[in-house]
Amino acid sequence: MKEIVNINGEILGRDRAVLSIFDRGFLYGDSVYETLRTYDGIPFLQDRHLRRLAASAERITIPLPGSKEIAREIERTCQAAEPGEYLVRVVVTRGEGPIWPAGPAVGLDPSLCKSPSLLVYVIPFPRRIEALQKTGVPVSIVPIRRNPRESLDPSIKSCNQLNNILAVTAASRKAAFEAIMRNPAGYVAEGASSNVFIARGGEIWTPPLAAGILEGITREVILELARDLGITVREQDFLPQDLLDSEECFLTSSLKEVLPVVECDGHPIGSGRPGPLTIRLLEKYREMVRISHPPR
Ligand code: PDD
Repeated sequence: MKEIVNINGEILGRDRAVLSIFDRGFLYGDSVYETLRTYDGIPFLQDRHLRRLAASAERITIPLPGSKEIAREIERTCQAAEPGEYLVRVVVTRGEGPIWPAGPAVGLDPSLCKSPSLLVYVIPFPRRIEALQKTGVPVSIVPIRRNPRESLDPSIKSCNQLNNILAVTAASRKAAFEAIMRNPAGYVAEGASSNVFIARGGEIWTPPLAAGILEGITREVILELARDLGITVREQDFLPQDLLDSEECFLTSSLKEVLPVVECDGHPIGSGRPGPLTIRLLEKYREMVRISHPPR
C-alpha cells in the first residue's frame, strides 16, 4: 500500500507531489486541516469533519471549495489507492503569496493570495492503536500551555501546530505517549492531538469548549454515546490534580478512538489498567463504527 496525494485535483504518488515554496501553508502555517480515518475503506464521519473544516477556514477567512467538491476529491483519491485502511488528511492552504509585495501591503496580508490549494493525503493506516488500547498509555502534563483563545483559538484546526509540537517535545522527554496541556488559567485543556476525559465517582468529565480546546469530533461522539449508556457526563473544568486522582482517564481522537491512560508523570491512574467505563465506551464506539460501516 502506498501513500497517494491529491494536489488541486491532480492525483500523484508521494515522490511527485510538490507544492510551491511560496505557499503560505508552508511559510506561515496559514492553512487548515482535518484528519479522518477509514473503516472498511470508507472515511468515517466525513460530513462532520467537512463541517469543521469549513468552520476553521471561515474563522481565518480562507475561501474554501464547497463540501461536495472536497468530498469528490476525497473519494477520487481513496479510489486511486489499493484496498485497505487509510488515514485521510485534507489540507486547505491560503495558497501562494509574495514574501515582499510591491506597494504598501505587508507579506502577511492574506488579501495578496488569490487561490487556495486543496490537498488530500491518503496514507496507509496500520492498526497499531488496538494494542495500545489494551495496555493503555502514559501521559505527561507538560509545562507548555495551550494557546489562549484570544490569541490563536484552539478551536480553529489550523496547520500552525507549533504550540502542540512544543508540548509533544516536552512529553517525549518524559517518554509519555501524549502531552496533556493546561490552559492559561491552569485547568486541563486537551492533549497535543486529542481530547481528554476523566472518570470520577461513576461520572465522566471533560473540559468544556470554553477551556480553549478543539471541538473534537470523537469527543462529541463519546458524549453522545455516554448519554445513551446512561452515564452522567459533565463538561467542566478540572485541575491536573483531579486527573491524577481520577479513577480512569482516556483520550479521544479520530485516530486514537478511545485510548485508555494508565499513568501520568509516573503516577498510576486508578488501578493502573484501562478502567471499566473507558472499556465500555470504547466498545460502544466500535459498535457505532460497525453499524455505520458494515463490512462489505
Ligand atoms: N488530532 N485536540 C487536538 C489538538 C487535535 O489535534 C485533535 C485531533 C483532537 C481530537 O479531534 P477529533 O476527535 O476530531 O479527531 C483534539 C488529529 C487526529 C490530528 O491532528 O491529526
